[in-house]
Amino acid sequence: MLTNLAQQPADALLALIKLHNADPRADKIDLGVGVYRTDTGATPVFAAIKAAEAKLLETQDSKAYLGPEGDMGFVHALMPYVFGAANPTMDGRIDGMQTPGGTGGVRLAVALAKKAGVQRIWMGTPSWPNHAQIFADLGLELKTFNHATKAGVVDMDALRAALAEAGPQDAVLLHGCCHNPTGIDYSHADWDEIAALIAARGVLPVLDLAYQGLGKGMEEDAYGVRRVLAAVPEALIAYSCDKNFGMYRDRVGAVYAMVADPAQLNAVLSNGHALARAAWSMPPDHGAAAVRLILEDAAMTKLWLDELDVMRARMNKVRAKLAEAGSAGAIDLKPLGGQNGLFSILPLTSEQILKLRTDHGIYMAGSGRINVAGLTMGNIDKFIADLATVSA
Ligand code: LMR
Repeated sequence: MLTNLAQQPADALLALIKLHNADPRADKIDLGVGVYRTDTGATPVFAAIKAAEAKLLETQDSKAYLGPEGDMGFVHALMPYVFGAANPTMDGRIDGMQTPGGTGGVRLAVALAKKAGVQRIWMGTPSWPNHAQIFADLGLELKTFNHATKAGVVDMDALRAALAEAGPQDAVLLHGCCHNPTGIDYSHADWDEIAALIAARGVLPVLDLAYQGLGKGMEEDAYGVRRVLAAVPEALIAYSCDKNFGMYRDRVGAVYAMVADPAQLNAVLSNGHALARAAWSMPPDHGAAAVRLILEDAAMTKLWLDELDVMRARMNKVRAKLAEAGSAGAIDLKPLGGQNGLFSILPLTSEQILKLRTDHGIYMAGSGRINVAGLTMGNIDKFIADLATVSA
C-alpha cells in the first residue's frame, strides 16, 4: 500500500535552511526563511520570553490537558493588541482559540470557512506558498489576483476586479501587514476602500496577521484588520506570535472568529474545537503560556515591546541602507526603503538566484524573496556588490 506514495519535493523554503547550514563559506548570507536576525546574524530568544519562561518554570504546577482551545488566558490577553484596547471583543462578537503557530491559525480559519459553506477563496499573488497548499489540501478552489504592480505598488485595480466577481459563497484572504513575500502593504486609504468593498460584496474576510509589530508598530499594523472588522458582520482572523515574540519553533498562534450576533459565537467556536480535536487534539502549551505571562505583567510587556521596537528599527536601518544604495546592477533597490516587515522581492531570474547561491553563498527563496533581517551592517555591502555582479 505505502508503495503508492510517490516521492514529494521538500518544501522549497524550508529546504534552504539545510542548504545554508551545509555551506562552509564563512561569508555566506541567509536571506531565506523568515526569522528575525540581529546585526550579528543571531536569532536570540527574547529577554521577555526568557523572563516568562523562568516564571513558568517556577510557578507552573501542572501539565494536565487544557482542551482543544488551548490556553484561553493567552487567547484573551492578545485581543486588545489585535482588536483594540477600547473594545477587544467587539461587544461580545469575537472570541478565539489557540493554534499551533500561525499556520494552525490559517488552517483552522480556512477549514471553518469551508465547513460553513465557502467554496472559493480569493488571494493576491504572490503570497506565502503555504497559503495555496492549505487551500488545496482542504479542497477549496483558489482564485487569484495580482497583489502588486510591476511598479511595486499595491494593484488596487486587480483587487477591485476580484472583489467585483466574488460573492457571498466566497472568502478572501488578506495579509494584515508586512505582506509576505513582497513587503508591499495597503495604505489606510486602500484598507478603507477594501473594507467597504468586502462588506458590499458579502465576501467572508480571512485576515492573516503574522507579523504585527514588525512593520510600523503594534497599533499601526492592526489598522487593516480593525478597519475590515468594523465594516463587516463576520470574519476569521489567523494570528501568529512566532515572529513578534520570536517563538518560531514553539508554534504559538491563534484563530479568532467574529460573528454578527454574539449568540452565534459558541456554535462557531465549537466547530473550531472539533476540527482541532481531529487534527492535533490540543495545541502545544509552553510558548503560549510564556506569551500569556508576558502580557499579564506590565514590566514584562514593556520589555517585550521595547525588544520589538529594536527589531523594527534595525530592519528599517537595513531598508534605508538598501534604498540609499539606489541600485545594484539592474536591480532598483529604492522601493525596498518604503516596504514593510521582513520581506521584499527582487526581480531576479531563477538563474540569477542560483548564481547568487552557488557563486556567492547568498541564499534566498526561488521567488526572489529576501529576508531583509538576514542583512547586517557587516554583510550588506557584499550583498549589494554580488547582486550587481549577477544582475549586471
Ligand atoms: C516564511 O515565510 O519564511 C515564514 O512564514 C516561515 C514559514 O513557515 O514559511
